[in-house]
Amino acid sequence: MFRFFNPFFLMPCLICLYDVLSMICPLRFSLWAKIPMALLITAGLAKIFMLRMTPAGFEVYELPRPAALILSGLFSFMVCALFMLIVKDVIFLVWKVIVRQAFPAHYASLCVMILAACATIWGAYQGTRVPDVLTHEVRIKNLGPEFDGMKAAMLVDIHVGSVNRREFVRAVVDKTNALSPDVILIPGDFVDGQVRNRSGDLEPLRDLRAKYGVLAVTGNHEYYYDLAGWLKTIEGFGVKWLENENVILTSGDSRLAIAGVPDPTGGNRNTPKALAGISEGIPIILMDHQPRFAGENAELGVNLQLSGHTHGGQMPGIRQLVARSNGGFVRGWYDVGGMKLYNSPGTSQWDGFIVRLFDPSEISLFILRAE
Ligand SMILES: [Fe+2]
Repeated sequence: MFRFFNPFFLMPCLICLYDVLSMICPLRFSLWAKIPMALLITAGLAKIFMLRMTPAGFEVYELPRPAALILSGLFSFMVCALFMLIVKDVIFLVWKVIVRQAFPAHYASLCVMILAACATIWGAYQGTRVPDVLTHEVRIKNLGPEFDGMKAAMLVDIHVGSVNRREFVRAVVDKTNALSPDVILIPGDFVDGQVRNRSGDLEPLRDLRAKYGVLAVTGNHEYYYDLAGWLKTIEGFGVKWLENENVILTSGDSRLAIAGVPDPTGGNRNTPKALAGISEGIPIILMDHQPRFAGENAELGVNLQLSGHTHGGQMPGIRQLVARSNGGFVRGWYDVGGMKLYNSPGTSQWDGFIVRLFDPSEISLFILRAE
């Protein structure tokens, strides 16, 4: 019962209530037609209430993929409809004041329902498909000639869960390896779920291949489950964690530092420590899951910050809200005090809200060039 007073659970309940009142109630259908519609929308809440809060973090009830996909789709529909209903209700208020005639509430609600259903189906396809590769050429100050043309692939926000599973990770790994990257960087949010349920889904990461290996930092979602278990499991797949530390890549006389900080959720994020020991003049790439610390990272001399976390907002409306809560960063390139920040939209997204509209996921490939 306490869950209803927790904002994480309360907000979806309020969204559901608004959807039913604003979309289902005005329909000129019989009560017997409207009740199943309302129940169907309410079923989307199951996706949220399948998360059980324990002192050690979330526990997720395991579901077959088709069932998970349907519940995620219903929850996503609920959110898509919310934004459209807000627009509809603003029009309703303006109509009442200016037109002063009966508002065609039935047709407006029906229109929102159809549009939200189409947006959910199209957006869920976009959100669950294997992403395209996006190539970015990035100029880095002091980059040595041996690293000019170096290829760094980035995967972030993989969020393996009950929807995107082993086949998805396998396809992403194959697509990444096909790029022949020199190094592969994964700045956090690998999973949503327990080690016992999801480790097999993440196992294809074992096959990632790059000359300088696979380097990673934690995202906030690693802390929601069994952090110690996940650190050990993912390390077992050949991924090296950078926890407030760096590695210096060497080729001929050229040096390149790759540093990483853990997500602030753990309370031990320490960028000066992560950059300690890097000699003056060596260019620095920093993995930092959340983009909002870009200002301080720039002041510490980072050349390129790679982040995720925001998922690009996943759709208009949410994008603006996500940007506001992440220091204005949400997707793409930013210049922050002379430092380059790339905020990836992510390789995937949390499997509760699987819709992406006008905001595709990506596998990022950076071609490093000397500035
Ligand atoms: Fe995140």
